[in-house]
Amino acid sequence: MSELSFQPEDYRAFGRYLEDSCGLVLGDNKDYLVANRLNGLMAELSVATLKDLISRAHGYSGSPLRERIIDAMTTNETMWFRDAYPFDMFAQVILPELAKRRLSQLRVWSAACSTGEEAYSISMVIREFQQANAGALPGNVQITATDIDSTVLNQARSASYDGKSLARGISDGRRQRFFEKTEDRWTLKSEVSQLVNFQPLNLKESYSALGKFEVIFCRNVLIYFSSELKKDIVTRMVDSLNPGAYLLMGAAEAPTSYCDDFTMLRGKPGVAYQLKKP
Ligand SMILES: C[S@@+](CC[C@H](N)C(=O)[O-])C[C@H]1O[C@@H](n2cnc3c(N)ncnc32)[C@H](O)[C@@H]1O
Repeated sequence: MSELSFQPEDYRAFGRYLEDSCGLVLGDNKDYLVANRLNGLMAELSVATLKDLISRAHGYSGSPLRERIIDAMTTNETMWFRDAYPFDMFAQVILPELAKRRLSQLRVWSAACSTGEEAYSISMVIREFQQANAGALPGNVQITATDIDSTVLNQARSASYDGKSLARGISDGRRQRFFEKTEDRWTLKSEVSQLVNFQPLNLKESYSALGKFEVIFCRNVLIYFSSELKKDIVTRMVDSLNPGAYLLMGAAEAPTSYCDDFTMLRGKPGVAYQLKKP
């Protein structure tokens, strides 16, 4: 049980600070969550109130403290091949269709990639597709994986996971094919890791430096944001997609709630969204 408690006005000010910084909407009565997440940081800094914490963070704009608050408050829950169907649709519908286009390069974006399981799952599906369909995809395949949280990005870059992580979604066949065991850790083989490039990115900020993609996975992150920010993000992702490109979202999320640019494709089960061609 956390010992921290907050003045209502401090709690509201912290909620505004968090939403301004990274889009997360705290909601009411989450004192327990905030206390649990910030307990260690506030003790380490000898800061007693949220008001003091915010003023320390404001004092050094763009400082590590702001990053540490965001890192503590973000939810990084993820797993390999999460929900299965987006990866099945990617393998069975999207990659075969993209292969027919004879593209010069294939670019996929895992937005909000957490510790890397989503991006590496995409990479494994691409490797499996390439093995079964030699020469069908372009030689130049790039997966850009981004997150706001520098701690999870560092874990992702290591490409090294423990057995508990692998138990959540990696089949025996994929473990044998794509991982190497070193002591008690499993490291991804370079054929998987070399396709993925991890970068810090706040989804509130511009995506233009990332270039254009054939597929975006933006899963299980918009649920934490306001409707206005969801709409803003989906609208700007449209500009990051080539005509006819695909967007895969979490089970509780749909771009069609925010714009008319997508056609819904039904899988068995699940859905994906394809950007309409002009
Ligand atoms: C619940 S995880 C989802 C991971 C993965 N996409 C999946 O579906 O398994 C949400 C991720 O979104 C990231 N995130 C939260 N706010 C963000 C923002 N404003 N910009 C970029 N990433 C953000 C968090 O750091 C976290 O790693």
